[in-house]
Amino acid sequence: MRERSARLLDWYDVHARDLPWRVPPASSARPDPYRIWLSEVMLQQTTVAAVKDYFARFTAIWPDVHALAAAEDAEVMAAWAGLGYYARARNLLACARVVSNELDGAFPDTEPALLKLPGIGPYTAAAIAAIAFDRRAVVVDGNVERVVTRLEAIETPLPAAKPAIRAATDAITPAVRPGDFAQAMMDLGATICTPRSPSCMLCPLAEDCGARIAGIAPDLPRKTPK
Ligand code: ADE
Repeated sequence: MRERSARLLDWYDVHARDLPWRVPPASSARPDPYRIWLSEVMLQQTTVAAVKDYFARFTAIWPDVHALAAAEDAEVMAAWAGLGYYARARNLLACARVVSNELDGAFPDTEPALLKLPGIGPYTAAAIAAIAFDRRAVVVDGNVERVVTRLEAIETPLPAAKPAIRAATDAITPAVRPGDFAQAMMDLGATICTPRSPSCMLCPLAEDCGARIAGIAPDLPRKTPK
């Protein structure tokens, strides 16, 4: 059997979702770090479907980080209205101003440097490093958490399972095309390895998926009762 990452990347080459901040898989074009950063901040606690229109509006008004940095606070807050979690919008603007004024408009390309910027936590730093700069990073969002829990049949409930999930994600993250790999894991979780009725028949990783083999895929991840 070929490696999981190779099977997943083959799947992604055919089935990648067409999202406004993406470049097609295996493209020689690199995504614009500004657009990746903006999309990842918007996607914190908001669905892809809800983010699309906001992303289009923001990038039409402010096509690059210098334009956003020069915006009035009130304009950005107004454009953000409806996305919620307004601290994200304030941090967005603070981050744009640091990148524009202090970094010549260039987003840092490593996780530790990205982590120093306002509004960029461990998940967002890893996502930007991988997707915008194709750096190997362990990118774990809710979708990835579910996929990996099922692959490894991790029965420990969340949140206690988080360290094991992180270690398992690290173990399958490839050195080649880590950015496409991260996005492929997210897409697999969003479209195939869904919470209630996963489409295991269509999954490129079904053959060696621990939860599918044990017949417990829909039951994972388990959660500690509140
Ligand atoms: N959710 C968060 N980041 C995402 C991305 N880059 N692609 C798809 N879904 C996401």
